[in-house]
Amino acid sequence: MTSDWWKDAVVYQIYPRSFQDSNGDGIGDLRGIINRLDYIRDLGANVIWLCPIYASPNADNGYDISDYRAIHPDFGTMADFDELLSQMHFRGMRLVMDLVVNHSSDEHRWFQSARQSAESRYHDFYIWRRGRGDAPPNNWGSWFGGPAWEYVPEMDEYYLHIFHRKQPDLNWNNPELRREIYDMMCWWLNKGVDGFRMDVINLISKPDELPDGPGGDLSPFCVNGPHVHEYLREMNSEVLSKYDMMTVGECPNLTVDAALDYAGAGRGELNMVFHFEHTGLTDGRFGKWTDARTPLPALKRVFEKWQTGLYGRAWNSLFWGNHDQPRAVSKFGCELPEYRALSAKMLCTCLYFMQGTPYIYQGDELGMTNAGFSDIGQYRDVESLNAYRDLVGSGALDKRTMLRYLACTSRDNARTPMQWSSGACAGFTSGDPWISPGHSWRAVNAERELAEEDSVYNFYRRALRLRKESRTVREGTFRLLWPDDERIFAYEREYEGERLTILCNFSSETVPLSEPDPALGECLICNYFGEGEPEVLRPWEARVVRSEVQIS
Ligand code: GLC
Ligand code: CA
Repeated sequence: MTSDWWKDAVVYQIYPRSFQDSNGDGIGDLRGIINRLDYIRDLGANVIWLCPIYASPNADNGYDISDYRAIHPDFGTMADFDELLSQMHFRGMRLVMDLVVNHSSDEHRWFQSARQSAESRYHDFYIWRRGRGDAPPNNWGSWFGGPAWEYVPEMDEYYLHIFHRKQPDLNWNNPELRREIYDMMCWWLNKGVDGFRMDVINLISKPDELPDGPGGDLSPFCVNGPHVHEYLREMNSEVLSKYDMMTVGECPNLTVDAALDYAGAGRGELNMVFHFEHTGLTDGRFGKWTDARTPLPALKRVFEKWQTGLYGRAWNSLFWGNHDQPRAVSKFGCELPEYRALSAKMLCTCLYFMQGTPYIYQGDELGMTNAGFSDIGQYRDVESLNAYRDLVGSGALDKRTMLRYLACTSRDNARTPMQWSSGACAGFTSGDPWISPGHSWRAVNAERELAEEDSVYNFYRRALRLRKESRTVREGTFRLLWPDDERIFAYEREYEGERLTILCNFSSETVPLSEPDPALGECLICNYFGEGEPEVLRPWEARVVRSEVQIS
């Protein structure tokens, strides 16, 4: 029943709140997405991953679900959803939904009942413990700040929440909970959806003993917990194996070996995983809050490890950013006006000629930049606001420094309105947007980029078409060139006598190639107009060169 169509897919990720508003309430909606389907198809994407659109009190913008089978009225109705799905299928596109089942909202009816009585059928759907005296059951800290436990006086017990206190963790040890989840998944699949992106799926299994963690860190116990593979295999046999669908699991703190356990061919679990090794290289003393730049040799090593480590054994997910990351061009490229578009095209080339399924986060195909917010009042994201409160409140960081860090790494950098035009509010809404547009929208918008042959959008189209036609991109081996070079990211792909050499300059300087011969051959795509010299890469230049190799 299942096929490998997801290996040839190009996935476009939509953060619905910020994509396109159709009714002037300042919030993106399903009708807005329907109106933009041709734009996505014409880019060359054939799958949409839709971030949560379910009923939710929005403590974490929809990642706190209060009814898994209802559409949030902000986004429209179930009829709108059905129309979106059929319009997509009509265009030969497929829809992947976000599955958020590590936790629900505290406003879900299960939790409402669970918190009232230990007799409730739903009490054990969550993770409850007695306190230690007046203190929580253990020292775990929530990933969104503060303790990971919340006290419920009616029960005289605490419940566990790895994320916000309005996101209580579900108890996967309970078979009735698992049954409910599988039924819900089948309900969406029977409607016709084509897959799931599984939110923090490697956190779902917790040990029975919940001991203190080093420095309050819960990761050693909750990441890849004791029964996670048992549950995913059960989910696979109860649900996934019965449909022609794709799955990708979001897995923080993942090693290559662990990825093979989740998504190795023949494991009977997931098709793909997202790891965050390449996005986390700048983490430091204050975790993700920093203005550091990613060191290129380390970045290359990470890709080399994943490209070779999964080769022939599992399938990579290729992404620079998503709704939790800063903008790719700001983080890995260069925002300066003269280099923004060049570096966005370079990043496209560097990533999407690797092996795996491309994921494009909305707006990256335009080279959208970070928001450029300078006031804490402009931020909406709960993680950013909590971190500001905690780090500035405790005196660990001064306001100016923290604002600088937020401007580099806050999730809101990727959540500003999609930039459709140079008209009011970037063409996103005719009303007041729920979050201000980023600073770059007058210069960077879809209307302009569709019209300009040389735009980032049109470069993406060409690159995606090329990769689609290439067996070497799909199947070829990966070899990193010049691993220690601090400015050039270059690699070779080889398959059945064809070699593609991908040459990318991650700097604003002109860089001579130390051994120019890999640059000789037919140039398939380049982000500059006009031939350069083979032995030199111009600032932020990217080139894909094709040559033939002797098969010995
Ligand atoms: C995932 C989501 C993120 C959310 C978190 C909790 O990491 O991508 O947006 O806040 O899980 O659901
Ligand atoms: Ca709306």
